[in-house]
Amino acid sequence: MTSAFLNIGSYLFVFCLSFLATLTSPAGANVAVFDDYWTQRQSDALKQTMASFDPNPLNVTDHLNYHAALAMDATESVNNTRRELSQVRNGRKLRKRSRKCVAYNPIDKCWRCNGDWEKNRKKLADCVLGFGRKTTGGKDGPFYVVNDPSDDDLINPKPGTLRHAVTRDGPLWIIFGSSMIIKLQQELIITSNKTIDGRGARVYIMEGAGLTVQFVNNVIIHNIYVKHVVPKSGGLIRDSEQHIGLRTVSDGDGISLFGATNVWIDHVSMTRCSDGMIDAILGSTAITISNSHFTDHEEVMLFGANDKHVIDKKMQITVAFNHFGKRLDQRMPRCRFGTIHVVNNDYTHWEMYAIGGNMNPTIISQGNRFIAPPNERARQVTKREYTPYSAWKMWNWQSEGDYFLNGAYFVQSGRQNAWSPKPVNPVPRKFAIRPQPGKMVRKLTMDAGVLGCKPGTAC
Ligand SMILES: *[C@@H]1O[C@H](CO)[C@@H](O)[C@H](O)[C@H]1NC(C)=O
Ligand SMILES: *[C@@H]1O[C@H](CO)[C@@H](O)[C@H](O)[C@H]1NC(C)=O
Ligand SMILES: *[C@@H]1O[C@H](CO)[C@@H](O)[C@H](O)[C@H]1NC(C)=O
Repeated sequence: MTSAFLNIGSYLFVFCLSFLATLTSPAGANVAVFDDYWTQRQSDALKQTMASFDPNPLNVTDHLNYHAALAMDATESVNNTRRELSQVRNGRKLRKRSRKCVAYNPIDKCWRCNGDWEKNRKKLADCVLGFGRKTTGGKDGPFYVVNDPSDDDLINPKPGTLRHAVTRDGPLWIIFGSSMIIKLQQELIITSNKTIDGRGARVYIMEGAGLTVQFVNNVIIHNIYVKHVVPKSGGLIRDSEQHIGLRTVSDGDGISLFGATNVWIDHVSMTRCSDGMIDAILGSTAITISNSHFTDHEEVMLFGANDKHVIDKKMQITVAFNHFGKRLDQRMPRCRFGTIHVVNNDYTHWEMYAIGGNMNPTIISQGNRFIAPPNERARQVTKREYTPYSAWKMWNWQSEGDYFLNGAYFVQSGRQNAWSPKPVNPVPRKFAIRPQPGKMVRKLTMDAGVLGCKPGTAC
């Protein structure tokens, strides 16, 4: 297999060399044959990884926090009626009974309360914040309407199926003509410049394979359910208009990002996948995972799969406004290398730990709510794996504005803000750019997961 990689041309960083070396390991990339097509796709993806890395991550985290402050301020001051407040106090679902749309977090506020969302679907692409903020998905392309839930032909997928849509060349904004359950026979291999937009329908990807975003750039996955994903045997699968490739076994990950850049996953509801729910590995970067809801799973998110994948030093991921819900065990997320901004998430259940990792990842935890489980020995939010204190004390794991309940605690290490150069006057000083406090998290995550959007009314 190695010889196929040597063709890659002059684009070889030290990073890439060791990256390529590890691809021959079983952590491989489900690609059974690295022919010219996949070799090219991989080398394009490496260039994207290098180009998408932001040398000034503090600017990106401040930018999100600034917009969170603006959105909260506007919602609180203009729409601060007694009724809404009592709705929020009384729980997540009550609000839905009323006609009134209230959005507290800046991503939702950007589009969700517009009753004309269906006529302006692509507005969504202007709303992403965090490390995935440059993602536009299929914004520059036409709409594609999926109206056939079948997945019978992996080599020549039928027009009208999701597999046909995601394997087309060029940008596409993919929507659904009706509610449907899609049982994928094998992994769904998504190409660059695509949006999967499930608004206006109930779209379940379930009881089959999951979604694969491999060596591609610029993908939005929005408002779909991904449930009960199971391993599949692989085989010949169409992976673009011009190419069919041989795949090895897929592990049963819900959404698998391999060498993927500029990816935004928003308002997705995920339950029970055989392997990870969301994995981001092998040079994946410039990613935002927001407004999503996770339940019933052991290992939720894996960012960086192997201590040898030093390419993952380029990994930058934002995890914002999500609800980590019932019967979750660990890895929310588990990180190797990279810089992970975990901001304003609601952690209501975990069994072992919430956030962990090894290989010196940088973890910026801001304004989350952490509710520890009853088990006294599992109250620590954080977990360092396979590393003595003498080594991990240097890792930058910082907590700011987090709200700890039931005895939850975060063990910090490193030095505050040692993880980024100072931004060059990026946003107005007015807001002092502190994260929204963890006590606001219920409001900020009130509508996490799939939204029931109907044309003509706010989502
Ligand atoms: C307040 O709510 C209304 C809808 O009831 C909405 O149109 C308006 O944009 C909201 N204002 C702010 C500042 O969020
Ligand atoms: C995706 O879109 C961008 C911008 O239009 C374009 O430069 C790029 O080549 C596209 N990628 C693919 C793989 O088509
Ligand atoms: C910081 O972010 C802002 C807003 O996205 C951008 O306009 C500015 O150029 C960035 N500055 C640097 C130094 O990256």
